[in-house]
Amino acid sequence: MTAQRVLARADELSTHSAREDGIERAYLTPEQTRVNAIAAAWMREAGLRSWPDEAANVCGRRHIDDDDRPALLLGSHLDTVPGAGRYDGILGVLVAIEVADRLRDADLPFALEVVAFGDEEGTRFGTTLLGSRALAGGWKDAWLDLSDADGIALRDAATTFGLIPENIGNAARAPGSLVGYLECHIEQGPRLEDLDRALGVVTTIAAAERRVISYRGEARHSATPWELRRDALLGASEGIVAIERIARDRGSPATVGRIRVEPDAVNVIAGFAEFSLDLRDATAAGRDATWGHIRHELHRIAGDKGLDLEVTSTHVAPEAPSAPHLQAAIAAGIAATGDADPIELVSIAGHDAMAIADLTEIGMLFVRCAGGISHHADESVREDDVALAIDALEAAVLHLAAESG
Ligand code: GLV
Ligand code: MN
Ligand code: MN
Repeated sequence: MTAQRVLARADELSTHSAREDGIERAYLTPEQTRVNAIAAAWMREAGLRSWPDEAANVCGRRHIDDDDRPALLLGSHLDTVPGAGRYDGILGVLVAIEVADRLRDADLPFALEVVAFGDEEGTRFGTTLLGSRALAGGWKDAWLDLSDADGIALRDAATTFGLIPENIGNAARAPGSLVGYLECHIEQGPRLEDLDRALGVVTTIAAAERRVISYRGEARHSATPWELRRDALLGASEGIVAIERIARDRGSPATVGRIRVEPDAVNVIAGFAEFSLDLRDATAAGRDATWGHIRHELHRIAGDKGLDLEVTSTHVAPEAPSAPHLQAAIAAGIAATGDADPIELVSIAGHDAMAIADLTEIGMLFVRCAGGISHHADESVREDDVALAIDALEAAVLHLAAESG
């Protein structure tokens, strides 16, 4: 029954999008205003006192937790990539609300809170995990000067949204105010499905880094002879192919998902080309070693083609291991649903938990998704798996309560 409600709610949230032909919900947009209000109402229905924090996250705390005891925080995010599915992040928020609903009167040795983060994907302002980093105390006022693709500064978007830009950092929770953070999320990979399991325990979230890489050459007429060309787009193309080769060889997932050229005309050699790089690895050391090889190759290409290379890092995160006792709690939760020997997984995808790891210990529960498909409209989960996820997260909370009670 509650799984049905989760799926119906995910359907409802999917209608709040910046576009008609798919789901797109970025940080500090009118779509976010609408889903935040809906999530707040669902939190209240679940017996939580709900409030928006200074960073546009929606928070909820059980009414019976009317003291300042440290809380166990459950949550995930409501923002999406362009062309998203219905469950990345959203499922974790909805499952957390269901668990809070079930435990609304439970006698727990800690307070229980739910959070719906406003920015995990980082698709709008070039850096990522803004909501969860603010809550974890990592907000930087310099981010107010970041702009989106339309040139709107984060400062102005925040003001339009109803935030006070200078106060966003006040979303920071005090160290010691949380006993831990648990996040339920779709796997975004095919391993659980391949192994015929509904749920898994995350041991570590992979280290990640995002960069903007640009080559500057010279825009010239397409009649220009080869030897006089300094073609930035050719440099970028060679660079992107080299990234795939190096990253594959070294087992570090790498993605170039965005490219922009100037002047962007059919009969003009591109004088400028800029592309993104999203590089991940199970460890920061492995990621950095892979980047060292890539950087070497990007410089070689610049030299060969007479281009200037510039690289800017826009996001860097070390690997985020789950705390052993929270892994054990998630495993106990899964075991309570009938899977006595839960699968352990490394998450290549990034999650709010990475940011929250700076504030408190983290644990994650993965839910099988069809074909491992994510960041796509075809993202899909099974109702029976969602039911198991709610049961498992509830059981994990009760396991922690029994351990610490
Ligand atoms: C978020 O989905 C990420 O892994 O980048
Ligand atoms: Mn996500
Ligand atoms: Mn995502």
